[in-house]
Amino acid sequence: MPKPIAQQSRKNSRGAPARRKKRSVLSRELTVGCLFSAIGGFAAAFEQAGVTTLWANEKDPFAVKTFRLNFPGISCVHKPIERLSAAGDDLQPVDILTAGFPCQPFSIAGNKRGFDDERGVVFLEIIRLLGEFGQNKPKILLLENVANFRSHDEGRTFRRVQQEIQQAGYWFTAANAQILNTATHTDIPQNRARIFMVAMSCDHFARNSFRFPPEPRNPKVKSVWSFVDRRKKPGEWYYFSEESQYHRPFADAIEEFGRDSIYQLRRTYVRENKSGLCFTLMANMGEGWRPPALSSGSV
Ligand SMILES: C[S@@+](CC[C@H](N)C(=O)[O-])C[C@H]1O[C@@H](n2cnc3c(N)ncnc32)[C@H](O)[C@@H]1O
Repeated sequence: MPKPIAQQSRKNSRGAPARRKKRSVLSRELTVGCLFSAIGGFAAAFEQAGVTTLWANEKDPFAVKTFRLNFPGISCVHKPIERLSAAGDDLQPVDILTAGFPCQPFSIAGNKRGFDDERGVVFLEIIRLLGEFGQNKPKILLLENVANFRSHDEGRTFRRVQQEIQQAGYWFTAANAQILNTATHTDIPQNRARIFMVAMSCDHFARNSFRFPPEPRNPKVKSVWSFVDRRKKPGEWYYFSEESQYHRPFADAIEEFGRDSIYQLRRTYVRENKSGLCFTLMANMGEGWRPPALSSGSV
């Protein structure tokens, strides 16, 4: 049974189990609220940095269930953001607000309808909530989306986002957005480039002082195999049967390039990822759409 991300043992003042936390280097404890929280990626990162997550919001029932298992002490409001309200849902003011808002309308893999797609306009719900917090609005916004977000619709989408954020009272220019790759900035062996956008409240910061840190010179990425236990055999469901049309192309590729590579089915062939990194993991891979494939040792 995997351990929850925020492993618990003690109880806090609310009677909920206390979360283990690194000592913060900051003069007082900072707090974060996570919109579009999914299973808690941002919450986990901020916990590790010593920042307390006060609440989260997510509409997908399975993601909410997983978030609550990962963070039993944190309230995750289960409803679409369109129905979320600061007062009605008792959202306490936070220092930092995160929002990895839906990327499908902006992704090169999606329909690219942007703000013409109902999933695109949910961005405006973030702006609505900022207004609801009034004087207590977050000091910092951290937004995340697909790498091509800035060039979507010839830059019109980004300009609209910039304008909305500025009108909400935040410093935000093109310098506040940068594409970061997981394999460059973490030890996780996944090639995942995403745009991160950081806006700072004009009420709290006299100028736009945020700058992204320089890229690490020698990123120390772990091997994919440090996450996989080859001694444990997964269920048959995870394998291509010999009757499968995919069995032969994968078997041939593994025969040619070896058992330690990562493979992915492209339109007409199986591709080996030579970098040793996992291909970008997508939500729809869970529905059988070309997930990365590994060899358990015996082809
Ligand atoms: C890209 S994921 C966010 C990843 C997350 N930031 C993290 O820390 O790992 C987007 C999430 O937004 C959720 N979502 C999409 N539309 C929503 C809506 N209208 N209201 C609330 N959540 C929504 C999806 O279910 C999905 O889990």
